[in-house]
Amino acid sequence: MLRLGMIGTGNISRDALTPAIAEVEDAVLWSVLSREKNRATEFARQNSAQAPIPGFDDLRAFLADPDLDAVVIATPDKLHAEQAIAAAAAGKHVLVEKPMATTVADAEAMVAACRSADVRLGVAYHMRWHQGHRALADRVHRGDFGEIRYARAQWTFQAPDSGNWRAHDEVGRWWSLAGVGTHSLDWLRWMLTPGCGEVVEVTSTITRNILGSQHDESAAVGLQFESGAVAQFVSSALFAAPNRGEICGSKGYAYCDQTLGRGGGGRIDTPEGAIGFAEVNPYAGEIADFVTSIREGRDPEVSGEEGLRNVELLCRICQ
Ligand SMILES: NC(=O)c1ccc[n+]([C@@H]2O[C@H](COP(=O)([O-])OP(=O)(O)OC[C@H]3O[C@@H](n4cnc5c(N)ncnc54)[C@H](OP(=O)(O)O)[C@@H]3O)[C@@H](O)[C@H]2O)c1
Repeated sequence: MLRLGMIGTGNISRDALTPAIAEVEDAVLWSVLSREKNRATEFARQNSAQAPIPGFDDLRAFLADPDLDAVVIATPDKLHAEQAIAAAAAGKHVLVEKPMATTVADAEAMVAACRSADVRLGVAYHMRWHQGHRALADRVHRGDFGEIRYARAQWTFQAPDSGNWRAHDEVGRWWSLAGVGTHSLDWLRWMLTPGCGEVVEVTSTITRNILGSQHDESAAVGLQFESGAVAQFVSSALFAAPNRGEICGSKGYAYCDQTLGRGGGGRIDTPEGAIGFAEVNPYAGEIADFVTSIREGRDPEVSGEEGLRNVELLCRICQ
């Protein structure tokens, strides 16, 4: 059993990551780190953490546990780098939530710390384990749609106000781009870079201050890849709408309806018919890949370097 420690007891830890750990056969939730010891202990109890004393409010003490194998970092974005680098120094493998950092320097330092400590570093872009996306990626990469010329992704949400930490500088840097846009960016790069090369040009239009945040409330982003393929994505904290993705090539296209998001469902159509896939929890696939990467001594499917490329682009998109 691989013993995982959870850092942060918020939304994604509670609703997605700990249930996903429970689905993975050879991993257990071992311990929990929170700013409040009682909260850590209660979260650990609710999620059946296995350590004899599972709740911590001190990072060093949490990491000093010799039975802890790896950490899952699910705290605000600006805190990831310090926590990941400390975990690597303590010899723990790291799965970090997206975006992995808020500066390129921090992301590079995380990659370097994990490489020099010889621990695995994965970045939590769970949509890569959506079974429909995996089937679509296989078809795109083997050329079923010809040369890819255009792709598009839309994932938005409606925030009630600017109360979320992403809307402010203290522990956040981007709002809609960090909440959802970074996922769309990863999805587009995953689909396109094997055939189209890297992103070479970035354009963006950013809306701020409708809800009172100086961070991006909406972002409309244009990307050009080395092959000349172009892509667009929109992220927003200002409206909720159906999530969509499209991949268009010289020999066909695919249209994704409600597959971008947290779940494993939705529909993917092509001119030849729908792509069939099993509806599974993508977060469980993400945790399983991280655990397997540790056992096999290989990089997780979304490595630190992949997460770093995403941060580099976010910095160019929203300067
Ligand atoms: N992959 C996905 O689908 C997905 C979805 C949502 C979020 N995320 C990512 O997961 C990370 C956490 O997001 P979230 O939505 O779970 O946030 P959240 O609900 O606000 O939870 C963050 C947790 O971090 C801890 N924390 C430590 N210092 C904090 C501070 N100064 N301010 C606020 N919280 C602090 C808190 O736990 P304690 O109070 O116990 O210390 C808090 O509950 C982010 O990087 C986010 O981008 C990923």
